[in-house]
Amino acid sequence: MKILSVVGARPNFVKIAPILRALAAAKVSGRHNESVLVHTEQHYDDNMSAAFFADLRIERPQYTLGVGSGTHAVQTAEIMRRFEPVVIDERPDLVLVVGDVNSTVACALTAAKLGVRVAHVEAGLRSFDRSMPEEINRIATDALSEYLFTTEEAANANLQREGHPAEQIFFVGNVMIDSLLACRRLAERSQVLERLGLTRDSYGRDYALVTMHRPSNVDAPDKLSALLGAFSDLAWEIPVIFPVHPRTRKRIEEFGLTHFVHPMLQPGGSAVICPGRISLLEPIGYIDFLRLMSGARVVLTDSGGMQEETTCLGVPCLTLRENTERPVTLTAGTSTLVGADPARILAGAHGALQNGKRPLTLPPLWDGRAAERIVRTLYERL
Ligand code: UD1
Repeated sequence: MKILSVVGARPNFVKIAPILRALAAAKVSGRHNESVLVHTEQHYDDNMSAAFFADLRIERPQYTLGVGSGTHAVQTAEIMRRFEPVVIDERPDLVLVVGDVNSTVACALTAAKLGVRVAHVEAGLRSFDRSMPEEINRIATDALSEYLFTTEEAANANLQREGHPAEQIFFVGNVMIDSLLACRRLAERSQVLERLGLTRDSYGRDYALVTMHRPSNVDAPDKLSALLGAFSDLAWEIPVIFPVHPRTRKRIEEFGLTHFVHPMLQPGGSAVICPGRISLLEPIGYIDFLRLMSGARVVLTDSGGMQEETTCLGVPCLTLRENTERPVTLTAGTSTLVGADPARILAGAHGALQNGKRPLTLPPLWDGRAAERIVRTLYERL
């Protein structure tokens, strides 16, 4: 069984790590497989890519495609152009893609057109909002995939409604949570809070953690300004720590919004907490980020993965969107949709600061064994 797995952007690395480990474990126990990893390099900065390979102990990819940034059409086309010869040379039994980024859909389409079967991990999620590039990627990838591995029951229902046969849908759980549970101990030993001066001091100081990178939140000056204004209001009450995505950093500078933030901190430098200002950090690696997330009083984010991770950690999460493709994080988890309205954001944050951590009710199959189930299914079916 030869499996060609694809990664491209930051969340992909977190999702692929347990799958590669499960494939390696199957091999050790005598079930032959050949695993080839391709990195499109949609994300290429060290702190967006190499740091994750190191933290998650992912093997060096056999292929790096050097695709880089571009418009959607350019990036997608360039990935397809560079991925096609790899599939032709390797002739895998299966191409495995994860998540919903441009690398996911581009490689699924390339493989399908070459007659190679596709497995999609994290299939069936729908925000029903086609203005999100990821929604288009999800729908197209699922349409092209023969094996649809899902994380939550809503995804199974979406796929059935779209006419996917039940025998192609495999409810296996959540590989992002596999990574979280596998790395939790390591994260407890991270010194990131000490380095940033965020340990609880005699004033009982805690912090809020922000991440935000969706074009719908950061690409319009008024909206970005309103959001940063809300975070800086919150920063009068509690330190607000923001490891900032390169897209967002560029927009803050371009739109002249630097008065809301501290000057960029150097990696490893301590966060200067200044009331009323957001403390910006460079993007940070997976283990340190897990520590930052689990120690936060409240997380404010537009990331899909963090809605799931905070659910698993019991940390309140204010989701800076009007919809989510991950509804289980609202019903069983800790997430609340607050959109981009400053009043809702601040009310949500005050509620979270008062109520603190929530008791854990983990969604079904979020038990750290999703990758094992995926690999078992592939052995049964291929
Ligand atoms: C991509 C995914 C998004 C995912 C996010 C996680 C798509 C359509 N979007 O969004 O679903 O949530 O990754 O981070 O696939 N840049 C750098 N260094 C890098 C990578 C990007 O500076 O290593 C900058 C470039 O200016 C680039 C911009 O960030 O133009 C956006 O990168 P891109 O990969 O196009 O989309 P993301 O916003 O990262």
